Amino acid sequence: MSTNSDMQTLMNRYGIVGRNEALREALATAVLVAPTDLSVLIQGESGVGKEVIPRIIHDHSKRRGKTYIAINCGAIPEGTIDSELFGHEKGAFTSAIGEHEGFFGTANGGTLFLDEVGELPLSTQARLLRVLETGEYLRVGSSIPRKTDVRIVAATNVDIPNAIKQGRFREDLYYRLSTINIQIPPLRKRQGDAVLLFKKFALETAERYNIPEPIRLTPEAEAVINSYKWPGNIRQLRNITEQLSILSESRSITPELLAKHGITPNSDADTGIATIGGSSNDTQHDYEQEIKILAHAVFELRSEVQELKEKMQGNDSWHATPANTTMPVPISSQKNTPSSSAHTFHTLSGNKHAQPLDMDIPTAEEIIDDDTLNIGDMEKRNILLALQRNHYKRKLAAEELGISERTLYRKIKAYGIDE
Ligand SMILES: Nc1ncnc2c1ncn2[C@@H]1O[C@H](COP(=O)(O)OP(=O)(O)O)[C@@H](O)[C@H]1O
Ligand SMILES: [Mg+2]
Repeated sequence: MSTNSDMQTLMNRYGIVGRNEALREALATAVLVAPTDLSVLIQGESGVGKEVIPRIIHDHSKRRGKTYIAINCGAIPEGTIDSELFGHEKGAFTSAIGEHEGFFGTANGGTLFLDEVGELPLSTQARLLRVLETGEYLRVGSSIPRKTDVRIVAATNVDIPNAIKQGRFREDLYYRLSTINIQIPPLRKRQGDAVLLFKKFALETAERYNIPEPIRLTPEAEAVINSYKWPGNIRQLRNITEQLSILSESRSITPELLAKHGITPNSDADTGIATIGGSSNDTQHDYEQEIKILAHAVFELRSEVQELKEKMQGNDSWHATPANTTMPVPISSQKNTPSSSAHTFHTLSGNKHAQPLDMDIPTAEEIIDDDTLNIGDMEKRNILLALQRNHYKRKLAAEELGISERTLYRKIKAYGIDE
């Protein structure tokens, strides 16, 4: 990147906002390595904006105009990932009625972005290493090597060296993938960028929903936005800004309004989301998370009981806010019962990060007094449900439960949950 204005042009083109030097360096590296065929590994927490990097690399390489495929490795079931990536022959397995090309075949000449690469099963990692080293791969059910010319860009929010230690990721593959390393800094380390991003998202939301006036921050609210830790990074900031744009009656956003969405100065403890990487692993944090998961379990159960009660009374008002809608409901008109407000948050935002977990937490006495509640059973049930909902991806289930992956692993073992 030769000049500042080149950088600004690039950022405008991809809708990237920010003054942070580390972010700009990451973008400059992407442009610099684009014309080579070196493998690139992008690392950074969830929501920091990793997905634009492979696109920049592809567009600035000789492969632009050829196929670009982005694959979320964490979203493809283990049973089908090999055949999705490498293809299969007719009859390779029971349901393989026809042959299948696979992404490595389809993307020949182009770029493959392997997002969440840390989620790949070990057997797939072996296949991937082979194609990276030899340019050849085998379809499932075939022993005839096929050639492919694919540029690989991978991304992860998992601490790969740690995954290597735990035997979940191949060290040789890590070195092969990370010829070039690009680190995207978390939002909390980009001083001032949060406010710039807020303004951008406020404008965009106003345009999208034909809202006459975009929301703006009071100076006090700017200070809050700047000092908040943003565990869900830019994705969280975007969701909050959208929610406020639609829900807030006032166009002027104050610290009080932010607090209603769990955004308080210097605090990420009350968002119910596990920070990725190191800090969530210490005992103190785990203890806090355990309290949260218990409270959450109790809270969910109560909501269900409440819902049942209301159904039996033929009163369906609990569903006044239909699920999966973006109906604008001003904050001030939301009911304040725990079940309705949590439900409203959840369905309106579709954003689990913003769901406050600490809204009406029962006291210890309340929990102990109620002999119909067995906390252990409830927690086990909650974990099972979260695992099911997330197709047994532990990382996603842990995020949903607001605990670290390690804590979830420990609990799965402790409860003897059979995955
Ligand atoms: N610097 C930025 N400027 C504007 N929008 C951004 C920026 N970084 C991320 N975003 C937006 O934030 C959201 C999350 O980014 P994404 O690339 O999906 O994160 P992840 O690192 O989890 O892959 C996307 O909607 C993306 O467009
Ligand atoms: Mg992503």
